[in-house]
Amino acid sequence: MYHLKRLRAFLTSACLATLVSSLSLAEAVDAQGWFPEEFKNLTIVPTDIAPDTLQAMMNSMADGLGVRCTFCHVREGRRTDFASDENKHKKIARDMMRMTQKINDEFLTRPGGLKVECITCHRGMKEPYTLAQVLSKTLAKEGLDAMMAKYGELREEYYGRAAYDFGEQTLMLMATDLEIEAGLRVLRKNLEYYPESADTHVQLGNLLLQSGDREGGIAALEEAVKLDPRNRWARGQLRRAREGDTTQDEE
Ligand code: HEC
Ligand code: HEC
Repeated sequence: MYHLKRLRAFLTSACLATLVSSLSLAEAVDAQGWFPEEFKNLTIVPTDIAPDTLQAMMNSMADGLGVRCTFCHVREGRRTDFASDENKHKKIARDMMRMTQKINDEFLTRPGGLKVECITCHRGMKEPYTLAQVLSKTLAKEGLDAMMAKYGELREEYYGRAAYDFGEQTLMLMATDLEIEAGLRVLRKNLEYYPESADTHVQLGNLLLQSGDREGGIAALEEAVKLDPRNRWARGQLRRAREGDTTQDEE
């Protein structure tokens, strides 16, 4: 375990510690095949860094983005040329390393405070979009069917991981930006996953009322109140709907 000690020493002493402040030590031990002993093209990391420390840092970056080494390093035949700068992702990664370091050194200075790492933003993904951003982008480019399919695919692949927020809010909030028909569809989809989401029933009720379906709207609002009797938003909307007032109240 000698190199764990060295790694810890490095992490507490070097300025780069903040870049990989909590990298998994298990990863550092787990050699991913061949790793060079000497480095020719380090511009950010100190050039005298111990190989196992650099390897731990590289593992942590790959992990943070959910990629393999060759996402940033060019492969030549069976060998990877780690020193080469031919891969454009390596250049972006350098900027990201500088950015991360700057955030940590200049802004996150509370003693004992938390630092950001690649994974803080990337959450195991190459591009750190939120779920709502991915969905909006898909909607704008390919339409509602594609967006709904995308939600299903991502949920299938990433549910239970840190990557995306599949909680009841995401689709519910998206629905508020959509046309009535599209919004209704998105809300009904959300209810397949969250049949007990009172807020989704309230939104559904509001949209149904807007679409002219008074009976359906009231039924959805009643369901919301039944699911969550203390939900003041649901109760207010239901009271208004019964009185024939369809203006929304954001309470
Ligand atoms: C997200 C991009 C990215 C990933 C993924 C990545 N690296 Fe790197 N790697 C870099 C960058 C950027 C540098 C240069 C750092 C600098 O300039 O100080 C580098 C430098 C290196 C070097 C030093 C090369 C030299 O001679 O200068 C080695 C060795 C290396 N990486 C190995 C790996 C291994 C092994 C993996 C997979 C576990 C990996 N890297 C994954 C971006 C990445
Ligand atoms: C403060 C948040 C944040 C941190 C921390 C961060 N990134 Fe990023 N990263 C982003 C954003 C936002 C983008 C997308 C930029 C764009 O669309 O132009 C991005 C994009 C990238 C890309 C391009 C991906 C692609 O598919 O083209 C790479 C590579 C990358 N980051 C590597 C890293 C590495 C390595 C680290 C850690 C040293 C890191 N990032 C830390 C926010 C962050």
